[in-house]
Amino acid sequence: MPPKSKDDKIDQEMEEIDASYLLSYTRHLERQKKRLETEKQVVEGERLRLQRELNNLRSELERLRAPPLFTGHLIEVLDEQTAVVRSTTGPTMVVSISKKVNLKDLRPNVRVALNQRSFAIVDVLPETHDPLVRAMEIEQRPNVSYNDIGGLKEQIQELREIVELPIKRPDLFEKVGIDPPKGVLLHGPPGTGKTLLARAVAHETDARFIRIIGSELVQKFIGEGARLVREIFRFAQEETPTILFIDEIDAIGSKRLETATSGDREVQRTLMQLLSCLDGFENRGDVKVIAATNRPDILDPALIRPGRFDRLIEVPLPNLEGRKEIFKVHTRKMSLSKNVDMDNLASITEGFSGADIKNACMEAGMQAVRDSRVRIQHKDFLIAIEKVKKRAKIKDNNAPAHYFS
Ligand SMILES: Nc1ncnc2c1ncn2[C@@H]1O[C@H](COP(=O)(O)OP(=O)(O)OP(=O)(O)O)[C@@H](O)[C@H]1O
Ligand SMILES: [Mg+2]
Repeated sequence: MPPKSKDDKIDQEMEEIDASYLLSYTRHLERQKKRLETEKQVVEGERLRLQRELNNLRSELERLRAPPLFTGHLIEVLDEQTAVVRSTTGPTMVVSISKKVNLKDLRPNVRVALNQRSFAIVDVLPETHDPLVRAMEIEQRPNVSYNDIGGLKEQIQELREIVELPIKRPDLFEKVGIDPPKGVLLHGPPGTGKTLLARAVAHETDARFIRIIGSELVQKFIGEGARLVREIFRFAQEETPTILFIDEIDAIGSKRLETATSGDREVQRTLMQLLSCLDGFENRGDVKVIAATNRPDILDPALIRPGRFDRLIEVPLPNLEGRKEIFKVHTRKMSLSKNVDMDNLASITEGFSGADIKNACMEAGMQAVRDSRVRIQHKDFLIAIEKVKKRAKIKDNNAPAHYFS
């Protein structure tokens, strides 16, 4: 082999330099490619974000541009696509129902949103209730049963006839062709179980129990009390069966006098509204009104006219037998010593109301707790009864007896 010329050597060196240059250049290009790829990913992410934002802005713009909706009340659903509504502006119309609306939500009298042009129902709105209706207290189904009432057998019987029967067997009244009584007035001294009776009836009839207190209906502003009464009656009729219990009805139902101050006139206006609401609703409906008072003597006679509170039930202080029963009810869950003699307790508590007896039972329990005993003795009851009597005396001296005085 001829020795390599100088030129050959140079060529070879050049080749080696080229190869190493190319190698490093390729590496450089590869790095460049990776960098560009990451950059592309970042830009792609940014694009998606902007797209989303654009969509949001578009839908917000659409919302803002949408015409306002009317509100109305549903009267009845005719079929899956049409319903009768009463718009708040007045007319009653047959309209179509948007597919978006769940048919199950379309209960009669529910508030709905109506499209401005076609009046189609596009949404079901939540019910609004006047914040002022805080004057009432609602219990879905009170947890008191007839078993928790001592004595008062006749009163329970009568209430069942007036309230329970029409709710449970409306057909009986229809067949006989009479209207069941609408309302009943319970009257009697404080603490004799009037509220208890009303709650028990609501429990037995599975009814909603709405309790309002007469004095809460006496409002500061003119017309406010009357409006409250209207709202409450409307609310009561919304979900039935309902027992509307008006406690202390004497606060608005006392006799109307000729010489009335403006405050009195406002109370009378509330009473007039109550009378007209009582007259206004169907007797056969499942709303029963029970009222209670300690002062039947001062009630306006208009309240107890037929068609209003046409039945009166007196809830007197318990007699001997009644007191024994009430003692039994309130000691049912207590751990009693064998020496507790209910007959004796009943005989020494003449003049006690149910609430007084309940107090005495609690007090007797406290005596046992104080002595760290588990069982309550007869003597604990004796001490407790004396305490309750003393308390009642103090009360009597401060305020004259006001019931049938
Ligand atoms: N007959 C009764 N049987 C059992 N408990 C009774 C009876 N009467 C009253 N009580 C007890 O006394 C408490 C007060 O009774 P309730 O509130 O029903 O009296 P009221 O007649 O409504 O009194 P008021 O006229 O002051 O409103 C009740 O929570 C109940 O525990
Ligand atoms: Mg009461």
